[in-house]
Amino acid sequence: MRVIIYTGKGGVGKTSVAAATALRSASLGHRTIVVSTDSAHSLSDSLEVPLSGKIERIRKNLDGLEVDIQLELETRWKEIQAYLSDFLASQGMDGVTAKEMAVFPGMELMSALFYVEEFHKSDSYDVVIIDTAPTADTLRLLSFPDIASWYFDHLFHMVRNVLKIARVTIGKMVSTPLPSDKFLEDLENLRERLRYVRDLLTDPEITSVRLVVNPEKMVITETQRAYTYLCMYGYTVESLVINRIIPEGLSDVYFDGKLKEQKEHLDTIESIFAPLKTFKASLMPREVLGGKSLESLAIQLFGDDDPTQVYSVESPMRVYEEDGASVFAIKMPFVMDQKLELYTRKDVLTLQLGAFKKSIVLPYALTNKEILGADLDGPWLKVRFEGEEIGRKKGRKRGRGRKASRKAH
Ligand SMILES: Nc1ncnc2c1ncn2[C@@H]1O[C@H](COP(=O)(O)OP(=O)(O)OP(=O)(O)O)[C@@H](O)[C@H]1O
Ligand SMILES: [Mg+2]
Repeated sequence: MRVIIYTGKGGVGKTSVAAATALRSASLGHRTIVVSTDSAHSLSDSLEVPLSGKIERIRKNLDGLEVDIQLELETRWKEIQAYLSDFLASQGMDGVTAKEMAVFPGMELMSALFYVEEFHKSDSYDVVIIDTAPTADTLRLLSFPDIASWYFDHLFHMVRNVLKIARVTIGKMVSTPLPSDKFLEDLENLRERLRYVRDLLTDPEITSVRLVVNPEKMVITETQRAYTYLCMYGYTVESLVINRIIPEGLSDVYFDGKLKEQKEHLDTIESIFAPLKTFKASLMPREVLGGKSLESLAIQLFGDDDPTQVYSVESPMRVYEEDGASVFAIKMPFVMDQKLELYTRKDVLTLQLGAFKKSIVLPYALTNKEILGADLDGPWLKVRFEGEEIGRKKGRKRGRGRKASRKAH
């Protein structure tokens, strides 16, 4: 099974590109489903077919689903939510608040990930295309398997304590409701399923994340950060879709300035995201709605290619811990023996290699860290930042201040 996730800032064209990819995939004979995880669903508007929280058939080889949060809470999460709210109420929380608190953040979003797991286990589809909500929400969704593990570990701990106390106080009045076997089973089951989903989503042969951008400054900045984060979570950012490019050759004074600005932004995109594979589509004279329009978008983006192929299995950026240091590794196959300079300024790491300059927005975890050094390991440039331990000790001495820019060779 292949999973393709389209993500990007609000309004850049994620839904249109996801729908266009899905139509092409189905017409090539792949059993395809396109899933929207955005609560403000527009997939059905884009495809001009009715969709819902249940899987609907769109055309031959193509199904669609708009994940419905309410429906998911009523079905998938029933048992867990019921126990949690009883438990919280027993701790003195009033009923309504307890009910609210029992919906932990991301519970709805996680439902979408469970669909991916179910499709994989039941071999229902060859291709799953995910149309996501704008970047911030999606990053939350995609980081969820990690965060949820943490949450479940704590929940388990708490439940075990409840059981322990219950044993000691047996025969006396116990006000805390005891978790049922079904609840414990559900919880263990969820943990297991999360692990499964995470393995699927971080397998580069299965899951690819495609970033959708427009040639506009604010879009580029947000996408750059998302790119770094996605790499950090272990996702493979496989390619980039540049949508809504104003075609050259429009002889109109009104567009002259805009085209000049666009050229600069396209150059910026190139310098930031190279060597990612890119797909391009121009700004169409009309809104992209319905089958025909989406098919012509697919032609612009993919030509005659099969867009479900894996274009790359390697993310050009990785963040990990090694020997007590946090390593930020960037694929730079062309460094050779030229002099390389690194600077950090606020949350941006700049690499200068001859005339080549690359700015990378660092994840928050690295923004207050000192660079310990950098070296090349094959095609990877590994920048070592002080790790958690060193950072904590130094942080106490150094306080909050830090130099605005630093340089390392
Ligand atoms: N290349 C294009 N040319 C012209 N119009 C486009 C193009 N791509 C998308 N659109 C139109 O732009 C609007 C927004 O597109 P779309 O809904 O696909 O973006 P989105 O990123 O999914 O937005 P949201 O963040 O709200 O989910 C739609 O009206 C769509 O038809
Ligand atoms: Mg959308």
